[in-house]
Amino acid sequence: MLKIAVILGTRPEITKMAPIIRELEIREADFFVLHTGQHYSYNLDGVFFEQLRLPQAKHNLEVGSSSHGEQTARILTAVEKVLQEESPDIVLVHGDTNSALAGALAAAKLNIKIGHVEAGLRSYDKSMPEEINRVLADHCSDYLFAPTEGAREILLGESIPEEKISVTGNTIVDSINQNLSMTGEQSNTLDSLHLKPGEYLLVTLHRQENVDNQARFASILDGLDKVAADLQLPLIYPVHPHSRKRLNEFKLGRKNLNLIEPVDFLGFLQLQSNARLILTDSGGIQEEACILGVPCVTLRDNTERPETVEVGANVLAGTSPDKILECARTMLGREKNWPNPFGDGKAGERIVRTITGGSDD
Ligand code: UD1
Repeated sequence: MLKIAVILGTRPEITKMAPIIRELEIREADFFVLHTGQHYSYNLDGVFFEQLRLPQAKHNLEVGSSSHGEQTARILTAVEKVLQEESPDIVLVHGDTNSALAGALAAAKLNIKIGHVEAGLRSYDKSMPEEINRVLADHCSDYLFAPTEGAREILLGESIPEEKISVTGNTIVDSINQNLSMTGEQSNTLDSLHLKPGEYLLVTLHRQENVDNQARFASILDGLDKVAADLQLPLIYPVHPHSRKRLNEFKLGRKNLNLIEPVDFLGFLQLQSNARLILTDSGGIQEEACILGVPCVTLRDNTERPETVEVGANVLAGTSPDKILECARTMLGREKNWPNPFGDGKAGERIVRTITGGSDD
């Protein structure tokens, strides 16, 4: 039987690898989870394993936080040791984090086959560390799991052989379908924040190109202030620890902004699905808003998720305050009947079937 290593390290990798892990369990496959420890705070890591009922990682490398180069190097060194010890036949990595790139590189150096989940995304902005990570991970992979036809076209355009690519849909659809119904039963996030459905705006901001630049971060917060004042709605901002550090360092508090701790998976699904509007610089949240039928304003100049814009669920605002307000108004004026471009919720099954050569049942 094929031995499979599932490598993950950060919050979004946990939520998007979960449907694959579930499918591997159903098929009683020989697999193990290798956690790099890139995310380690309970509210970015442990709580996701608990809520998604995932098996504990067999290996946790506990690499923690450091500069990009050092973190990537630490993961590479530590993953290589585990792969030498375990000798899997295939390694699965997800997306564009330092964990994904270093995991893929470690496997490539050992001639172990690599499957890249969420392949073929491009922002064409090389100043983003994620762009470098995703391009390199794609180009050393043997199985490229493109979430959409557009992502497949991009890979073909970069001369990746057609037979390596499968269009699977995005595993976040599987994850949402498997968990959305539980948000009501298992999460009281809305009540605990005294929020009513449709009567608040949800904000997330954590990309280094936004929050590490004081002027840019301040400009976005000015834009958010304008939106809150215009719509007379509270802004709820679950703050990533990195952004929290920058907010304190730059002294950027705003009275309109309700800063809360990072929210767990089910709580965040509840917050997203009931928001009037989501404003974010996250890639994953652009997808989730689109799937949940909630309008989204992206606080960036580009996106590697153009499908969300094409179907009318999302608009790129950049960071100028007036443009952010204009985009918020535009999105609130739109019909919310766009199609979901990210597949039918069976991506996990397709991915596992492709690597194991299993049947369709
Ligand atoms: C990483 C990914 C990003 C993804 C994001 C999801 C890369 C290059 N970026 O960014 O694509 O969208 O995860 O959250 O891999 N920290 C904690 N506790 C933790 C983890 C981090 O406090 O458990 C703090 C540390 O101060 C750390 C900082 O957050 O220095 C940044 O963490 P890091 O994992 O380097 O990058 P993210 O910003 O989380």
